Amino acid sequence: MSTTQVGIVGAGPAGLLLGHLLHLNGIDSVIVENRARDYVIDRVRAGVLEQGTVDLLMAMGVGERLQREGLRHDGLYISFGGERHHIALADLTGGKAITVYGQNEVVKDLIDARIATSRPLHFEAEHVSVGALDSSRPTIHFRQGGTDHEIRCDFIAGCDGFHGVCRQSIPDGALTNYDRLYPFGWLGILAGAPPSSAELVYTYHDRGFALFSMRSPTITRLYFQVPPDEPIDQWTDEAIWDEMLMRMTTRDGWKPQVGRIVQKSVTPMRSFVAAPMRYGRLFLAGDAAHIVPPTGAKGLNLAASDVLVLARALKAFYESGRSDWLDEYSAVCLRRVWKAQRFSWWMTTTLHRSPDETAFDHQRQIADLDYLTGSRAAMTSLAEQYVGLPMEISFESAGL
Ligand code: FAD
Ligand code: PHB
Repeated sequence: MSTTQVGIVGAGPAGLLLGHLLHLNGIDSVIVENRARDYVIDRVRAGVLEQGTVDLLMAMGVGERLQREGLRHDGLYISFGGERHHIALADLTGGKAITVYGQNEVVKDLIDARIATSRPLHFEAEHVSVGALDSSRPTIHFRQGGTDHEIRCDFIAGCDGFHGVCRQSIPDGALTNYDRLYPFGWLGILAGAPPSSAELVYTYHDRGFALFSMRSPTITRLYFQVPPDEPIDQWTDEAIWDEMLMRMTTRDGWKPQVGRIVQKSVTPMRSFVAAPMRYGRLFLAGDAAHIVPPTGAKGLNLAASDVLVLARALKAFYESGRSDWLDEYSAVCLRRVWKAQRFSWWMTTTLHRSPDETAFDHQRQIADLDYLTGSRAAMTSLAEQYVGLPMEISFESAGL
């Protein structure tokens, strides 16, 4: 048996960021992750960091490689009817931008930072469970290397993603779940090809949505809409490129550069919120509490804003015994979460073709895109949400 102040379940962006924020405030934590270190680092997921997430990583002292290798984008393109329309994110938001830097790079930097602190981080923990959540000593149990472990905590942070154990350990009826499934998913590839556009291109095409993104000056990241349960084996590399080129090529001849496909997978799309994001001494953060469809590029950024709010509350509790910020945690997070939910839902339903759409829906989508790309007010609205709405609290209040 061991003890800690904050037990953190999950070493994804939410868990690792929280661990480091607590460390910077002198608060002890143990991170328990059920996967292997290489698996956690190699998993290909998010790519777009909001301005506020970049600022947070810099303020935490873990942004050195991000600043060197991240690709700052001052704009993006919306493409429909065979034409790309530029949205000047930075011009429309007083200089804010997004940065393309893979989630796996963020996680790698945070694992390195954690190891440098010598605070505990357990990978490959089996049979992880949490208990005594409504007591003052909640516990984490797990098995590692054939030995059972128990950690007694003051608080537990459930940062274990959508399929984790923490949310599932909350008694039935304590949370309200808001759920919406979409009748499509994304087939995504990583390809060894230099990006043919310096900025992202979101495409609405008669055959469905497609997205051009990147990871580095030599790696392109591309997606297109498929049915949610599409078997990836059904798609040869050649068929994937044919579909990408068909959807993305614009009348001026722009198209992605073709290269060797090094990774491919299908992701279903969902919007989900569990409220409140707390039960007793268990606090949920990131994908454990909410999921957005990736079209708005918001998931990782919401994980970052959640843990900033949680770090502020835990710092105040340990420094002055106040618990009002712990009590407000869920409400403060959910304000930002719901705005990101609305934006992600809007981006998704505006840019995808739905199997049950009517001819009216199709015309309305085209009008929506025509209005968006022709109105400075509409572009400003997209831009301020895409670069990230303000975090609800200041960095200073979380000890930065
Ligand atoms: P996770 O990253 O899921 O981390 C949870 C961790 O908990 C994992 O390491 C997991 O192994 C571990 N875990 C699970 N169960 C247990 C258990 N029982 N015990 C211990 N550990 C456990 N977001 C963006 O902001 N921008 C984007 O551009 C973007 N693009 C995306 C593209 C795709 C294709 C996908 C799928 C997602 C994208 N996202 C994007 C979303 C983003 O990847 C997630 O929101 C983000 O990973 C959430 O971080 P998290 O730490 O909350 O959860
Ligand atoms: C990515 O680069 O993986 C990416 C970019 C934008 C999104 C989603 C994913 O909206």
